[in-house]
Amino acid sequence: MPTAANFTLARTELAPLQDRQVLVRNLFMSVDPYMRGRMNEGKSYIPAFELGQPLDGGAVGEVVESRAGEFKPGDVVTSNFGWREYFIGAPKELHLISREVKPLSVYLGALGMTGMTAWAGLKLVDVKAGDVVYISGAAGAVGNVAGQLAKLRGCRVIGSAGSTEKVRFLKDECGFDVAFNYKVGPVVEQLKVEAPDGIDVYFDNVGGETLEAALSALRPHGRIIACGGISGYNDEKPAPGPTNLFNIITKRLTMKGLIVRDWLDRQNEFEKEVGGYFRAGKLKNKETVVEGIDQAVAAFLGLFEGKNVGKMVVKFAPTVR
Ligand SMILES: NC(=O)c1ccc[n+]([C@@H]2O[C@H](COP(=O)([O-])OP(=O)(O)OC[C@H]3O[C@@H](n4cnc5c(N)ncnc54)[C@H](OP(=O)(O)O)[C@@H]3O)[C@@H](O)[C@H]2O)c1
Repeated sequence: MPTAANFTLARTELAPLQDRQVLVRNLFMSVDPYMRGRMNEGKSYIPAFELGQPLDGGAVGEVVESRAGEFKPGDVVTSNFGWREYFIGAPKELHLISREVKPLSVYLGALGMTGMTAWAGLKLVDVKAGDVVYISGAAGAVGNVAGQLAKLRGCRVIGSAGSTEKVRFLKDECGFDVAFNYKVGPVVEQLKVEAPDGIDVYFDNVGGETLEAALSALRPHGRIIACGGISGYNDEKPAPGPTNLFNIITKRLTMKGLIVRDWLDRQNEFEKEVGGYFRAGKLKNKETVVEGIDQAVAAFLGLFEGKNVGKMVVKFAPTVR
């Protein structure tokens, strides 16, 4: 488990703005479980963070000054320049968004990377009306949107999360048919009660024992969306895989890995569909907002303690330049 001592908050001077550059003040930044993987050395699908260098990640900011025709002061943009209050970027590193959408942090959650992960996951295994879909990490950023989208597709949706408050949120606010607290008893037993006839799809956000339970609960020809494995992100050595993997053979299951970046060429389709649901009031954007860059590390570490309901975001206090 990382600690605050692994991070340093530093103040630096930005260079004067050059032609084709834009100065942006961040309004919100994202903290995400995948950033934990970037703290490990070695090759992965995304480069590791460098010791002594600023971190990066998703952010929403406001243009303060621009020497590029594409942007003007007051424009709101998304970027990958999180973990800092101000930055200078090139136009191709910024994505203009509507400032009319409220809250703007929705572009880090339901209408951002995590919402797109939920949407892409359901597409990956062709989730359709009538499917019984089980989602772990269901009250988090990806999970709650995945559940809401599955309900909009006409599925029966079951979610698990780590507290009574989260279970209530899933049932009362997100429309899940069933939700349970995975901390009060083995998932395999709770699934037997909540889905006695089994499940068709498992949206895996946590891995480990929960994946093992889902392998038991899946019906023949069931599908698994392998999205995340947060239960193991802080393990010191890799845990052995599920003991019941043989279910894949006997039940002819399909398990597909998902990396949301592979879906970026379908961003317009995502924005049209999921943005449409959001604007029509059919999709709830739930977030946990922590204020101030000095709280960013606590927000990030909080993900591994379940401190968030919905998307964890950091809001920046207005600062003096
Ligand atoms: N493949 C991709 O492209 C992609 C993209 C985005 C995210 N992801 C993955 O999707 C998953 C969810 O990401 P997110 O951004 O939506 O995060 P999140 O669910 O908003 O936050 C993490 C949540 O994980 C749960 N958790 C923490 N430790 C756990 C443990 N040991 N066992 C079970 N649950 C635990 C906590 O909720 P509880 O209180 O319920 O425990 C916590 O709130 C992560 O695994 C992430 O890496 C994958």
